[in-house]
Amino acid sequence: MNLLYAFVTLMAIGAFGVDYTPDLEEYIFNPRLPLLSQLNIIDAIPLTNATATSTSNRFPTKEQIIYYNYYAAVNYFYDLQNLTCEYCEKIKPDIADHKVFYNGTHNTLAMVALSNTRKEIVVSFRGSANSWNLVLDFAFLFNVKERGNIKVHAGFYIATMSLYEHVVQAIAYYRQDHPNYKIVITGLSLGGAMARMTLFFLKDRNQFDNATYELYTFGEFRVGNIYFAEYMNSLNITSVRVVHRADIICHLPPVTVLGTNILYDFYFHPQNEYWINGSDGQKFCSQNVYEDASCSNSIGPAYSLVDHFTYFDVNIAGAFAQPLQLASIAFNILPVETSLPPLPKFIGNPLEDLLNTVIGGLVPSLG
Ligand SMILES: *[C@@H]1O[C@H](CO)[C@@H](O)[C@H](O)[C@H]1NC(C)=O
Ligand SMILES: *[C@@H]1O[C@H](CO)[C@@H](O)[C@H](O)[C@H]1NC(C)=O
Ligand SMILES: *[C@@H]1O[C@H](CO)[C@@H](O)[C@H](O)[C@H]1NC(C)=O
Ligand SMILES: *[C@@H]1O[C@H](CO)[C@@H](O)[C@H](O)[C@H]1NC(C)=O
Ligand SMILES: *[C@@H]1O[C@H](CO)[C@@H](O)[C@H](O)[C@H]1NC(C)=O
Ligand SMILES: *[C@@H]1O[C@H](CO)[C@@H](O)[C@H](O)[C@H]1NC(C)=O
Repeated sequence: MNLLYAFVTLMAIGAFGVDYTPDLEEYIFNPRLPLLSQLNIIDAIPLTNATATSTSNRFPTKEQIIYYNYYAAVNYFYDLQNLTCEYCEKIKPDIADHKVFYNGTHNTLAMVALSNTRKEIVVSFRGSANSWNLVLDFAFLFNVKERGNIKVHAGFYIATMSLYEHVVQAIAYYRQDHPNYKIVITGLSLGGAMARMTLFFLKDRNQFDNATYELYTFGEFRVGNIYFAEYMNSLNITSVRVVHRADIICHLPPVTVLGTNILYDFYFHPQNEYWINGSDGQKFCSQNVYEDASCSNSIGPAYSLVDHFTYFDVNIAGAFAQPLQLASIAFNILPVETSLPPLPKFIGNPLEDLLNTVIGGLVPSLG
């Protein structure tokens, strides 16, 4: 219980910083207390290592994982516009052009970068600030139908959609001249969840019909149910979900609530976990199950928030208070450029209207 209280407190501080004034306690803590007792039994019954029916995704190399971790990290630092942030130097030589998109309502941020040296377009997401609120708000309200049995976290859906059109337009803009570049999507924490959900919509809407995708997430939340995991597992792409030791974020939302495992209608990670077990070792986990019981799940329920801030040689703890300040800085993030092409057409999903209606009704309650 104390651990979870500390977790929520840190998230709140991380999200709102010292500048946040409006009734912090009332807004964050009180309505969430009933939820905390549920969080207390995170992953009490680990049934997530069920055999997966699809195993077509491929692991990247460790070098690739370490490289895209920098992309995931830079979003937490500034100045992104000039790429002079901490860790920017690691990727800057490869970047020919980039755009940064920011949604002030949800304080979500994405960078889309063009790399001619590596022949790729990299999309990286930051998730923080107001968005933590979404996480908490929807952790248990959760799922909305997207397609068939696939359900996704409603808060992550809102965060993803707050940037989706900008991201698609930026990719389309770069693809005009570079249709064969692969599209790499990455993110840390909530940004990891947004990266995965963005890929889901890019694929599900067939947004770029012959594009090659790669997905790298770090300290990612669980995003959807087992059918969502199944869909992700069947993409036949290079994909990895990196977990540092006992990072608690990777075990939220929990797969069990009050000891009840709602097996086919609760949160599951897709496969391709890469586990960094402290300094002792790193390993590519089993691709035959959704979540490998011998990887990060083996530590449960002794999960830790501290492990969330360090991935390889990147430490974002120092930046964690920063995004909050960013929320109030009127920095020169681009609105969508007029030179961008119109949104590519996608194969509409009739369920989406319903989804939007449901979400639209929920948004006002977020404040
Ligand atoms: C999942 O892992 C646990 C612990 O290792 C084990 O007891 C259980 O049999 C496994 N379940 C499946 C479906 O593999
Ligand atoms: C970014 O570069 C521009 C042009 O060189 C400069 O005017 C601006 O002050 C720089 N921003 C920061 C935060 O250093
Ligand atoms: C921010 O996200 C919300 C929700 O998706 C959307 O309605 C709004 O237009 C977005 N704002 C900008 C500037 O993109
Ligand atoms: C994708 O399609 C575009 C135009 O339709 C084409 O120029 C490009 O070569 C294709 N790329 C791949 C990887 O097939
Ligand atoms: C997966 O993609 C590779 C090429 O990247 C292809 O050779 C293989 O046949 C595909 N596998 C499936 C199951 O579609
Ligand atoms: C993880 O590392 C610890 C030591 O830090 C070790 O005791 C444990 O066996 C390792 N777990 C696995 C599954 O390799």
